Amino acid sequence: MSPWRRYVGNASMKFTCDPRNLEYLLKTRFSVFPKGPYFRDTIRDLLVDGIFNVDDVTWQRQRKTISVELYSAKFRQLTTESLVELVHARLLPVLENVVNKSTTIDLQDVLLILTFENVCMIAFGVDPGCLRLGLPEIPFAKAFEGATEATLLRFFTPTFIWKAMRCLDLGSEKKLGTSIKGVDEFAGEVIKTRKKELSLQTEDERRRSDLLTVFMRLKDEQGKPFLDKFLRDICVNFILAGRDTSSVALSWFFWLLEKNPMIEEKILAEICRIVNERDELKNKRELEIPLIFRPEEIKKMDYLQASLSETLRLYPSVPVDHKENRKFVL
Ligand code: HEM
Repeated sequence: MSPWRRYVGNASMKFTCDPRNLEYLLKTRFSVFPKGPYFRDTIRDLLVDGIFNVDDVTWQRQRKTISVELYSAKFRQLTTESLVELVHARLLPVLENVVNKSTTIDLQDVLLILTFENVCMIAFGVDPGCLRLGLPEIPFAKAFEGATEATLLRFFTPTFIWKAMRCLDLGSEKKLGTSIKGVDEFAGEVIKTRKKELSLQTEDERRRSDLLTVFMRLKDEQGKPFLDKFLRDICVNFILAGRDTSSVALSWFFWLLEKNPMIEEKILAEICRIVNERDELKNKRELEIPLIFRPEEIKKMDYLQASLSETLRLYPSVPVDHKENRKFVL
């Protein structure tokens, strides 16, 4: 993109959804199509040097460490346990309360809070505590929401306008500044506390496997511990990656179920059939215990899996992915 177009706005773009083009952009010639300066400049204030906002070697290094971590058995166990706990101890009571009081609730909001809490626990290893009766407002959640909204708005505003607004601390740019301060304060506090806790070397601390702790135990290329700023960027980018994507997918999924009751019936029939295969249910002794799906049962839920995939196909959580062309200046 030419400097002039980058300065004035976002005009010189080409859109494609042809799978052959996507393969070319994201796989065959991946290194020729980076995120690029326009994208990075627009989201830099919030995401700084995190995985979403870096290219080339810096991206490769983060990607490698995060991938190793994501596929580790310990990490998978942490995410599974944390989600089971969140759904049973937090989400279900909130939904039951709505049913008991015959009130209404915005499911999209609740799902966003659920995925935010889940990904915060995975990234920072702390529970922000938003998913409770009455859905209390939590400063970090509010700051994160404000910062992502104001950053997104920059993509619909000519660059020179948002840059001028940032200089003058006006409107959405003022909100962005305040929100980023809130995010940084929360992250700074968690990092400080975790450092103290890890230095105590207790059994609980040794068992921690959240992303922040993992990166705190690692060293950079010079063999030094990562800087606090870098730890903040890793976690904030990760929260952004996991929060909206999953909640948007779940919101569309339930919306589609409501429009297609036959599909809902088939999913329920599949779940009942699989759960009824449990031995303990056969002798009816454990019916009073809350039903928690086991990983091996979920793996057998083919119809549910297909319905979720179809939801993502019809309403992708990430409908647009921006890449710049390194070879040709338009
Ligand atoms: C329905 C759920 C999800 C969808 C559709 C989705 C989709 C995507 C897409 C399309 C990208 C590529 C962005 C790009 O290259 O510009 C991406 C990147 C990423 N996602 Fe997800 N995601 C989902 C859930 C999650 C969750 C739950 C996490 C973490 C807990 C996560 C972590 C990441 C990370 C760390 C990246 C950056 C990878 C990189 O740049 O190499 N995602 N995701």
